[in-house]
Amino acid sequence: MTAEFPVSRPRRLRRTPALRRLVAETRLSPADLVLPMFVKEGITEAQPVGSMPGVFQHTRETLRKAAHEAVEAGVGGLILFGIPADKDERGSAADDPHGIVQLALRDLTADLGDSIVIMTDLCLDEYTSHGHCGLLTAAGEVDNDSTLERYASIAIAQAEAGSAVVAPSGMMDGQVRAIRAALDGAGHAQVSIMAYSVKYSSAYYGPFREAAECAPQFGDRAAYQQDPANAAESLREVLLDLAEGADLVMVKPAGAYLDIVRRVRDAVDVPVAAYQVSGEYAMVEAAAQNGWIDRDRVIMESLTAIRRAGADIVLTYWATEVATRLV
Ligand code: PBG
Repeated sequence: MTAEFPVSRPRRLRRTPALRRLVAETRLSPADLVLPMFVKEGITEAQPVGSMPGVFQHTRETLRKAAHEAVEAGVGGLILFGIPADKDERGSAADDPHGIVQLALRDLTADLGDSIVIMTDLCLDEYTSHGHCGLLTAAGEVDNDSTLERYASIAIAQAEAGSAVVAPSGMMDGQVRAIRAALDGAGHAQVSIMAYSVKYSSAYYGPFREAAECAPQFGDRAAYQQDPANAAESLREVLLDLAEGADLVMVKPAGAYLDIVRRVRDAVDVPVAAYQVSGEYAMVEAAAQNGWIDRDRVIMESLTAIRRAGADIVLTYWATEVATRLV
């Protein structure tokens, strides 16, 4: 055996599960995962979301139970979305101290204390009758600057009800600055901002719109969410949000935007989150129900890929299940 014999044999380190585990470059741990949860006003039983098997619109009681299970599994955080009984043009329920998210926040902070990071999505689309993420002008366009005042008020309501991290997802310019100023002015300087900095105008949000009952009643969100064709503007969005005071930044969706996750991770020195969204979840569940893929392996592979691309934190509807499997 001489010169042609392969000197390097990469297969040697793949030979056994123990070797593969030892040399794995990417690891998943429950603490990296954040569970998105839906709480709905005016229902007496949890309602299954048809397009997201295994996901529910919770009552306050069933939310507490599911949140407790996430804590038991070691999940790092949860992020709450509220569905009010009544919607109006301005999304008045969003910053009502007795609105559904504020009530649920008080329940969860009382139950769970500091055992998990309690976060809130900060947007208007679940609360407005028209389903857009902001206030409308007379011409029916989403008005950036008047929407900022609503976001500021929602941030204060969520902070007062116990949110540790507010996560603005509406893609208004200047939203992080407006929210930071409002929180600081109201004595909530300790509340963090996880900015949905990079949020594409994506068809992968389809099932979420059923879960959160927030499909736009006319038009779409392409005038404020990013064009899937663009990458450079993601960095611009991230750098602006950091200059405005974001503590963490997020890329959304995750699976189809792993290149963006990597670019953001390489460009910033704050934690980077990625959101494995409703459509990513629904596609795997649907294919698995048909017996076309190995559900559990695809779930782990998809999450490993998002972490490998550079995400420190992954928002996923599978958080509790995966955390349980990891221990
Ligand atoms: C807006 C919001 C959306 C999602 C999270 N926050 C919907 C949208 O922008 O249309 C989507 C999450 C998912 O698809 O899982 N409040």
